[in-house]
Amino acid sequence: MLKGKNIVLGVTGSIAAYKAALLVRLLVKEGADVQVVMTPAAKEFITPLTLSTLSGHPVLCDFFHSESGAWNSHVELGLWADAMIVAPATASTIGKMAGGVADNLLVTTYLSMKAPVFIAPAMDLDMYAHPSTQRNIEVLKGYGNHIIEAAAGELASHLCGKGRMEEPAAIVERLKDFFLGNSALVGKKVLVTAGPTYEKIDPVRFIGNYSSGKMGFAIAEECAAKGADVTLVAGPVSLECNNPKIKRVDVESAREMYDAAMAVFPTCDVAVLSAAVADYRPAECAPVKMKRTADDMCIELTPNSDIAASLGAIKGDGRLLVGFALETNNAEENARLKLKKKNLDFIVLNSLEDKGAGFACDTNKVSIIDKDGKSDFPLKSKKEVAKDIVAHISRLLVVLAFMLLPLSASAEGEELNANVTLNASKVQGSNTEVFTQLEESLKAFVNDRKWTTNVYEENERINCNFTFVVNSYANDGSFDCSLMVQASRPVYGASYSSTLFQYEDKSIKFKYQPFDRLEFIEENLDNNLTAVIAFYVYMIIGMDLDSMGELGGSEFLNKALTIANNAQNLGDAGWRVVGGSNNRYSIIDDYMNGAMEPVRKLMYKYHRLGLDTMFKNADEGRKAITESMALLKKAYEDRPMAYFTKLLTEYKVDEIVNIYSKCTPDEKKSVVEILSNINPSLSSEWEKIKRNNN
Ligand code: CTP
Repeated sequence: MLKGKNIVLGVTGSIAAYKAALLVRLLVKEGADVQVVMTPAAKEFITPLTLSTLSGHPVLCDFFHSESGAWNSHVELGLWADAMIVAPATASTIGKMAGGVADNLLVTTYLSMKAPVFIAPAMDLDMYAHPSTQRNIEVLKGYGNHIIEAAAGELASHLCGKGRMEEPAAIVERLKDFFLGNSALVGKKVLVTAGPTYEKIDPVRFIGNYSSGKMGFAIAEECAAKGADVTLVAGPVSLECNNPKIKRVDVESAREMYDAAMAVFPTCDVAVLSAAVADYRPAECAPVKMKRTADDMCIELTPNSDIAASLGAIKGDGRLLVGFALETNNAEENARLKLKKKNLDFIVLNSLEDKGAGFACDTNKVSIIDKDGKSDFPLKSKKEVAKDIVAHISRLLVVLAFMLLPLSASAEGEELNANVTLNASKVQGSNTEVFTQLEESLKAFVNDRKWTTNVYEENERINCNFTFVVNSYANDGSFDCSLMVQASRPVYGASYSSTLFQYEDKSIKFKYQPFDRLEFIEENLDNNLTAVIAFYVYMIIGMDLDSMGELGGSEFLNKALTIANNAQNLGDAGWRVVGGSNNRYSIIDDYMNGAMEPVRKLMYKYHRLGLDTMFKNADEGRKAITESMALLKKAYEDRPMAYFTKLLTEYKVDEIVNIYSKCTPDEKKSVVEILSNINPSLSSEWEKIKRNNN
């Protein structure tokens, strides 16, 4: 699992440093490349020679190499590593890491680290329990580091309590879990059939084929490496598999393979049928060796059950079935027939027409065919091909998870044309699959949920952009994001939309684990993420309805207000994060405040009577917009700091300047006066109105 992973192991001056030797050994055994960095104090507890011998690399301790004077680049280590482990981590090093005290190579390496960092504290129980240590640990957690909690037990001081460094084997498991973390196959049960079948003619002869089983074994290994529990039903092959996550069932004949596969399939999530199963078997198996009796000989054959087709018949909706086709002619056409006939989700085609593909060799050249199309892959080792196939399975498992969402969430929404983007470029070194999944979940949540019973025509839908920027992500599923929400409604008869709402929410904290379903139950704020999104959606729908009919959005704005009020009452720390006058709560509070009623009425005048009308009758439309500007002035006089008085000017500058490009000087004067008063920072823009000539 850790094969090919570059690990920086930081060792500090604790009695537990002796365990670092075992940790290096275990990591190397798992296939990792380990670079040890020690603090000067650590050398008192374990010699660099031990660790350099075990890791196969010189141990780094000083900023400069003592003899050559060469610089030991912590920056390069930070880029090289897939993960850093600090084990044991003393109270002093934890404090330095939390405080950024970069007085040794280990801490500078930590500060330059782009990969996830795991910290395994080791100290006496009182030091561990001390508020300063606990505070530093919390600080490190807040930076997204993974703390491998100290275990309880007897300590070097002979006291008993919490403070022992976690055992090296457990640390390695934790690291393996992290790298597996977001694989769609974790915990999935997979059945793989592999190899040929032998159909007995008599005690010494059989009908068989050239299948080596290599492809099926490679698939079983790859699924297990991605966290699946695999049952490998293997025909007679001379192959070994050692992964403890693979349960091997050896069979010989097609009938035995059928029985074994049918027995495990009901509890499986995925079945990959790579065995070359004999289609026929001798009708009779002679009890003793058959003798040569005549020149000709006929063996009567009887058909075997088709395992793939039998599983296809009982598979239902929630499982994946993958087949293989080895063809010599009309390859694609034959493969497609099998795909359909056996009810497979996809079929892997290898054609004997291709050199290096098929039975006897270590390479294969395949195409993956499903009902939607075909992807061709180049000639690769069977191990690499297995990776491609399993990656395809993982993708389909994600899709399947969405298809199984409850109906209420997948009913097609009509109000929004929403675009949801998740930008995780700020987060370094994390497994990106979770971000892709979260983005998909968010899209489905916003777009598929039916937020209203109102009927929207295609041209009435509100255009929304939800852009999440992930600031930090921890492997326990904790996200810290900012969210830019932007919404605009189409202008009737015109080809553009006018901004309705725009706001940057600087901090949303929530938890999301791979495949979590994003559900929202009204007034249930268990999930801060869905509550926040539902809040914005209701707010936007409410504002849109306000712009369609005077104060028409009250029902939905009240829903948004209820969410905000509940969060406030619950003291949800994640809710009122920005503080001051400009947060989620104050936005809805602003908008629903009685003093802001002119702003709500303005929406109707501005959008419906103004913009929508302007397209047919410019003067009439502009007149309504001028009336809406007077309402804006009124609201501003009552609540100058309210968010919406600014919003309505800030994001509509160009539009307003355009609207007043043709009007009387008096109209120009009055509107420039109002706007410059409300939003003086844009006065040069408003002045453009005056300069525009009729
Ligand atoms: N298969 C199976 N059980 C069988 C025969 C085939 O599970 N008795 C599976 C294979 O493991 C493979 C797929 O069905 O995944 C296609 O196998 P193939 O031998 O190409 O298909 P057949 O239906 O036997 O067609 P053909 O007439 O080409 O042999």
